[in-house]
Amino acid sequence: MKRTLVIVKPDAVERGLVGEVIARFEQRQLRVAAAQFRLIDVATAKRHYAEHEGKPFFDSVVTMLTRSPAMVLVVEGPGETWKVVRTMIGATDPSEAAPGTIRGDLAIDMSQNVIHGSDSADSAQREIAIFFPDLA
Ligand code: TYD
Ligand code: MG
Repeated sequence: MKRTLVIVKPDAVERGLVGEVIARFEQRQLRVAAAQFRLIDVATAKRHYAEHEGKPFFDSVVTMLTRSPAMVLVVEGPGETWKVVRTMIGATDPSEAAPGTIRGDLAIDMSQNVIHGSDSADSAQREIAIFFPDLA
């Protein structure tokens, strides 16, 4: 089984979408291997989004990820789970995300795009180690 990191972001928790998002993964026969409901601190958010440091949207994504609690998940399944999850999430800009995807169904605004999913096997490993060091 291969694992990937998912964050149901604060905007989605605030809107009561945690169950909806988890249900989609479970219906797809992916499993929640670990879950942590937590207020992510700024240092952890910066580490998580390190690849975006220096970009114009860096401060706003860090603020967004830390503004209220998030539901951080390790999702597992057969094959390239990170890829399946990214396909289910849809395009980064929800206004361009296909219907049927999580962002395409639940979001409209880039800055409130509901969910994070690791974008490669290496990212999955790195990000799981940040939030679930005991699993890495
Ligand atoms: P990114 O890792 O490129 O997207 P994804 O979440 O699909 O992996 O960007 C991280 C987050 O930063 C993204 O979910 C929303 C935000 N963001 C902006 O606000 N503006 C932008 O131009 C980009 C590329 C991302
Ligand atoms: Mg990304």
